[in-house]
Amino acid sequence: MAAGAGGSRKGLRLGLGLAALGRPAYITAGRDGDLGADRSVEAMRDRAAAVLDAAWAAGVRHLDAARSYGRAEEFLAHWLAARPEVATDPSLVVASKWGYRYVGGWRMDAEQHEVKDHSLGAFTEQLAQTRHLLGDHLRLHQVHSVTPDSPVLRDGPLLRALAAQREQGLRIGLSTSGPHQGDVVRAALEVRVDGEPLFTAVQSTWNALEPSVGPALAEAAAAGVLVVVKEALANGRLAPGSDAGAERLAHQVGVPLDQLALDAALAQPWAGVVLSGAVTPEQVARGAAAAQLDLDDDALAALVPLAQEPAAYWSERSARPWR
Ligand SMILES: NC(=O)c1ccc[n+]([C@@H]2O[C@H](COP(=O)([O-])OP(=O)(O)OC[C@H]3O[C@@H](n4cnc5c(N)ncnc54)[C@H](OP(=O)(O)O)[C@@H]3O)[C@@H](O)[C@H]2O)c1
Repeated sequence: MAAGAGGSRKGLRLGLGLAALGRPAYITAGRDGDLGADRSVEAMRDRAAAVLDAAWAAGVRHLDAARSYGRAEEFLAHWLAARPEVATDPSLVVASKWGYRYVGGWRMDAEQHEVKDHSLGAFTEQLAQTRHLLGDHLRLHQVHSVTPDSPVLRDGPLLRALAAQREQGLRIGLSTSGPHQGDVVRAALEVRVDGEPLFTAVQSTWNALEPSVGPALAEAAAAGVLVVVKEALANGRLAPGSDAGAERLAHQVGVPLDQLALDAALAQPWAGVVLSGAVTPEQVARGAAAAQLDLDDDALAALVPLAQEPAAYWSERSARPWR
């Protein structure tokens, strides 16, 4: 399992997502252990900076935020302001999302933490909020969690507004969620404005428990679309200490579960970026080490038996507690 040539190439494809860092509560498993009790704005801002520093040092260049991730964009802007060498680096890719509002009020026990709104009004309001914080750093703007029932892909005035941003050099993308991600990806590939494909980046959940969107993502990559993998560790379900069955399979390969799961995503030929949801510098380092692994196909296939029915996966996910 030496670090072959694939290792360094894969390392550059590791990205960092801020869903677990921008707000006090989220759905990942071991937050209490990783974050402790202090979820103050200051503590989360400092943690975000430490994880961003570790990620940048490890070669991560793609950073993913969203309006609904609480203060993630603010923390990212604060970090960039303090790192001019990073802020001016041409390889930096800052991505964000619109379409969900953070309504948690910085409370751990909020009834609701985010609300979906895919209207033209939400787009206009949230783009202005993101631009106010991230300015010209914003390179990729994605519609957040498009599902088959979302009106976005059929909303003419909204698609024109997105295309107007494309004309100004902003890359337009979408993220998908739920058991029918593949249908949404394929539908998005068909969307054209002024004869040009509108969505040139797609972010989807792919991991050993829920690999069903894989074929659609291969089609997207073949069409020249940037494919970003999210939830490669199934919100921590594929992390050490979380699933005995999965750990047994990883043990047979002799690779820690989180690194095997991350490498399985990095090994997908259509994966342009694989987002790490790390909340500690140690987790970043483990992700970077996973990218250096050169596992053979048998090893990478070790987790295949874990695949769930998509409907079962997503209903389990929606039942996960915010903590
Ligand atoms: N709809 C959307 O567009 C959407 C939805 C979800 C995520 N995303 C994007 O995808 C990113 C990642 O998703 P995610 O954080 O939900 O799930 P994930 O990457 O599947 O899981 C990350 C969690 O796994 C645990 N973990 C254990 N070992 C780790 C390691 N070596 N590296 C990284 N994490 C480790 C950590 O949680 P513990 O605290 O439990 O240890 C961490 O928060 C998000 O930050 C966001 O940018 C987008």
